[in-house]
Amino acid sequence: MDPVVEAAERRTRDLEERVAADPAAFRVLTGDRPTGPLHLGHYFGTLANRVRLQRLGVDVFVLIADYQVLTDRDVAERLPEHALGLAADYLAAGIDPARATVFRHSAVPELNQLMLPFLSLVSVAELRRNPTVKDEIAASSQAAVSGLMFTYPVHQAADILFCKADLVPVGKDQLPHQEIARTVARRFNERYGPVFPVPDALLSDAPNLLGTDGRKMSKSRGNAIALSATPDDTARLLRRAVTDADRRITYEPDARPGVSNLVLLAALCQGRDPHAVAADVGDGGAAALKKTAIESVNEFLRPIRARRADLAADPAYLRRVLAEGNERARAVAARTLTEVREAMAMVA
Ligand code: TRP
Repeated sequence: MDPVVEAAERRTRDLEERVAADPAAFRVLTGDRPTGPLHLGHYFGTLANRVRLQRLGVDVFVLIADYQVLTDRDVAERLPEHALGLAADYLAAGIDPARATVFRHSAVPELNQLMLPFLSLVSVAELRRNPTVKDEIAASSQAAVSGLMFTYPVHQAADILFCKADLVPVGKDQLPHQEIARTVARRFNERYGPVFPVPDALLSDAPNLLGTDGRKMSKSRGNAIALSATPDDTARLLRRAVTDADRRITYEPDARPGVSNLVLLAALCQGRDPHAVAADVGDGGAAALKKTAIESVNEFLRPIRARRADLAADPAYLRRVLAEGNERARAVAARTLTEVREAMAMVA
């Protein structure tokens, strides 16, 4: 196992204990790119965890990373629609705008201004080494790598540090970015005096849910079940899922990835152990398994979809939630920027 991941997992266990003991002492920031509807991979990978932290009493900031959309494409398409859609997904999943701050980073100029001093704290060699950026460059359809793609981990550091977040719930793939955010915080404090907490990654223990074709669940691959999909679309997608010919249903993720992924999906939706769900289906084969998965997913998503439909019918409300979140984030960012400028002796 990767020693960096192992260390982050150990640290996560320790942090979870401290959060449980004193949730109000922590601020969490995390977010998503507004490129389309959120799906079950997002839900079980991170959304559920954010809602859990919010309910514990942690101060949660949820970021709509609209500038980041421009890292691997020339134009961010349909931004207003995707930003409102993301807000609707968040609220439907349980993010409470009275307790959490939902905002777009493009709406917070003081956050973006932090990018300038922060860029001065990292070397080009460090940016070039970042394995996640390398992967994203390889996956990008753009002919040339933009300066924003190359430097966006530093922008992500500004996303995190503007509100002095201590905890960043992320997947393993984001650990290299998290390391840059920690480096920026440490170096700023060393050079100019203590301003920033050094933020920790909080890895979720969510199991790895795959798409219906056995690859990573992703909207662009057409293998993802959107939270907002209809029950019929959900059924159609799951009926096409890859399985195998063995009629006895078991949960063996390595040996039987397709079947096990459907078992896991049903188990997560039922809040049960995957082995128990597999035993229930027994010798029913792939058809029975798919039926169970379809029913479990649609049942689980029913209240979320109902809330989401209500929210989508009231875009003025969603706009107001974002405007308030943006304003709250701006007030926090303005205070931090003043501290930064004072520490850097840039105030006469
Ligand atoms: N980079 C993250 C992603 O691609 C999104 C993101 C932007 C983010 N800024 C962040 C996540 C700050 C955590 C903290 O999914």
